[in-house]
Amino acid sequence: MKVFVPRDAAALSVGAEDVARAIAAEAASRGVEVQIIRNGSRGLLWLEPFVEVETPEGRIGYGPVEAEDVPGLFEAGFAEGGAHALRHGRPEEMPYLAKQQRLTFARCGITDPLSLDDYEAHDGLKGLRNALAMDPAAIVEAVTASGLRGRGGAGFPTGIKWRTVLQAQADRKYIVCNADEGDSGTFADRMIMEGDPFLLVEGMIIAGIATEATKGFIYIRSEYPHAIATMNAAIDIAYQRRVLGPSVLGSGKRFDLEVRVGAGAYICGEETSLLESLEGRRGMVRPKPPLPALKGLFGRPTVINNVLSLTTVPIVLDKGAAFYAEYGTGRSRGTQPLQLAGNVKRGGLIEVAFGLTLRQLIEEFGGGTASGRPFRAVQVGGPLGAYFPDELLDTSLDYESMAAKKGMLGHGGVVVFDDRVDLAVQARFAMEFCAIESCGKCTPCRIGSTRGVETIDKIIAGRDVGRNVTLLEDLCETMLDGSLCALGGLTPYPVLSALTHFPDDFDRAPATAQAAE
Ligand code: NAI
Ligand code: SF4
Repeated sequence: MKVFVPRDAAALSVGAEDVARAIAAEAASRGVEVQIIRNGSRGLLWLEPFVEVETPEGRIGYGPVEAEDVPGLFEAGFAEGGAHALRHGRPEEMPYLAKQQRLTFARCGITDPLSLDDYEAHDGLKGLRNALAMDPAAIVEAVTASGLRGRGGAGFPTGIKWRTVLQAQADRKYIVCNADEGDSGTFADRMIMEGDPFLLVEGMIIAGIATEATKGFIYIRSEYPHAIATMNAAIDIAYQRRVLGPSVLGSGKRFDLEVRVGAGAYICGEETSLLESLEGRRGMVRPKPPLPALKGLFGRPTVINNVLSLTTVPIVLDKGAAFYAEYGTGRSRGTQPLQLAGNVKRGGLIEVAFGLTLRQLIEEFGGGTASGRPFRAVQVGGPLGAYFPDELLDTSLDYESMAAKKGMLGHGGVVVFDDRVDLAVQARFAMEFCAIESCGKCTPCRIGSTRGVETIDKIIAGRDVGRNVTLLEDLCETMLDGSLCALGGLTPYPVLSALTHFPDDFDRAPATAQAAE
């Protein structure tokens, strides 16, 4: 009997370890031989721990399974995929997965994350093998032609970044993976590192070969201990199997890779702060130019890409640029792993071609609010993303459509709120977040965010609301135009969108002021 129990952090947080132990114990007590594979998550987070059993008809999923459900599952003929209240049938036939176009996440939840053989049996290393037979410039050209844009949030064309590094002359070059996934409501980087770590290893080696860099670092936030452990284990295996090291797959080309752990600062997800941190200093933003592509880690040309950009590259090199570019809409080509969270019935990972609307995401995938109360707002793109009301839910989730509505897709995090949310309080949260996480280098962000909190406090207290709203708008303009990096520069997005779309929440009566004081 072969059973799959995720070791993904989301599954572990709701008892997957106990479930795995209970399955082993129950099987032993019944004299049933069981092989338990600790897979990644399928991304059906409301069903975690989502347990699967291999049957002649394919894998059958059950969830959410608790340890005390296990004896009952065995009674119901779990080993044969028997009927049970927690049974969901074949995962790939569940509408939530069947309606997705999984390219980057194709293997996540399916394979054993730390089995290189399983990885290769599911098309792993094909992209790398193709890349090893190509000129660096041809690899860069393929990535450019695929239309892949930086999935960290900025959406800069990955191929153009790589070309800049390839053309730069230097004694050494580096590949840095930004795995400091700090946005609230995002978890795609973590999921892929825990569920399909060799994909990131493969993507980074391809980036190295394409740009003639021989050393890579994966900068992972310290809050991700499971991802850190899985990536380190995968790197060890890749060295043992000569996928990494002096001669990648016997090609004579070198690539070395190691994990570095962050220390818990949001700003270290900003690329130049990340470089400072990697070099052993406090994470402070460096002015650009020089671009990291020309003068990055230790002053050398450096590719810095998000986990999702790097884990998409092997597909481009395996299936071809045209295959990838066929997905998507307008200038947003390919697929986007969206992360649905907050007050929603079915939160999880949804990888679809660009073009899905927010409404489709929240209603068709998410099933509406978890509370059953009316929807009120959705924040897209992390703590620096805009809040959208119901009237904007038909906006397509792609870079240009979101920007046209004064929002941003960011790293694809989508957080849903019901009618109990107070958008003035959320605007205050944005300013407070910025004040806490600011690196302090520039005035609009360092001082502006604190003044922003004070001004919103006055509005919430109903003090001179009209004047303070004008002051807040003015402050937002200064932060937008005058900040050195995206933290100070994007904090006005949630604040201004709250003011624009939810003005009633700022229209505090003086009576509220007395109550608040
Ligand atoms: P940016 O627009 O300054 O740069 C984007 C990337 O392109 C950078 O790597 C930059 O070095 C590179 N680049 C720009 N011009 C280039 C050229 N000519 N040649 C080669 N490379 C070039 O944006 P930034 O500040 O790096 O990122 C801002 C974005 O980060 C925001 O839009 C936001 O969505 C996202 N973000 C993501 C978070 C996360 O947790 N993933 C957290 C906070 C923000
Ligand atoms: Fe630092 Fe904020 Fe200025 Fe960015 S905007 S450099 S985080 S002070």
